[in-house]
Amino acid sequence: MFSLPKKVTIIEVGPRDGLQNEKNQVETDVKLEFIHLLKKSGVTEMELTSFVSPKWVPQMKDAKEIMEHADLVERSIVLAPNAKGVALAQEAGAKSIAVFVGVSNTFNQKNINRTTDESIEALAPIILKLKEDDVYVRACISTAFYCPYEGKIGIDDCIELCRRFVALGVDELSVADTIGMANPVESYELFTRLRQSFPSVLLTAHFHDTRKMALANIFASLQAGVDRFDTAAGGLGGCPFADGATGNVATEDVVNMLDSLAISTGIDVKQLCEAVEKIAPHVSRPIETGMYRLFENGRI
Ligand code: HMG
Ligand code: MG
Repeated sequence: MFSLPKKVTIIEVGPRDGLQNEKNQVETDVKLEFIHLLKKSGVTEMELTSFVSPKWVPQMKDAKEIMEHADLVERSIVLAPNAKGVALAQEAGAKSIAVFVGVSNTFNQKNINRTTDESIEALAPIILKLKEDDVYVRACISTAFYCPYEGKIGIDDCIELCRRFVALGVDELSVADTIGMANPVESYELFTRLRQSFPSVLLTAHFHDTRKMALANIFASLQAGVDRFDTAAGGLGGCPFADGATGNVATEDVVNMLDSLAISTGIDVKQLCEAVEKIAPHVSRPIETGMYRLFENGRI
């Protein structure tokens, strides 16, 4: 029979991955209220914002204000691509920082203007220093399955990149299907290898739902021993530098699936939908997730 955990941790990435691709600037107060409502629904780990170049990602230009005023959760994570981002994040009080690198060189160059090797070389001393400062470090591994420019990525290439981060002492690997192309067998295979290779770090799966396979991929990853998932309320999201990337798997649909399997997340779907209702008028695309539709129709 299926091997399922009793408890899963959801890392809500809506305020960061969810909004970074939005062309219209969402007001800081709206983002803060969204974060507050997400926390109220039971979220304990969340990516709040990114300290990235405002020229590259204008939507995240209020990162400092977000960190100063957000209703923080137990693990409030911010992204930072380089020394400048990390310095700004620490000045703003961040205690959990996510760095990000793509397995695919081409994607990495489009995303952070460096090759994968250049990025990791630049990040190595930064990560060592963060660990000295007792900061929680999450390494986000993009294009772990497929790259929009290079195609299929080899499992060994992904494992090797993760190994370099683990050797630097990161606390968590968040491994991503950036453009939502992985299938459940590929998800099971990669996460089984990752779980076996890196038993001492937290392992998180990050699925975008471009081809509507994310729930199936999550179910397959549960079988591989993964019990942490990045998800975005309302299914928002996508990386501006990954052609064809659409939203993350929707938190409300993942929590509903896990509820129905008697796997606890500590998150209340109805309250989560109230957070989605807050952000919905401020994003450019309609929110069409299964549970939000039921909520809108008064069915939950
Ligand atoms: P660059 O142009 O090579 O940077 O960009 P630079 O070092 O030459 O600096 C250029 C200018 O940016 C300078 O300002 C710097 O001070 C400034 P100027 O002198 O021209 O006025 N700058 C910064 N400002 C604020 N914060 C910073 C920062 N760094 C430099 N941290 C850079 C390189 C990395 C900065 C740029 O490419 C960048 O910001 N990229 C971010 C891209 C991004 O946010 N992508 C989305 C997140 S990753 C993702 O979504 C994937 C994930 O969800 C997993 C998955 O699904 O795959 C995690
Ligand atoms: Mg993403």
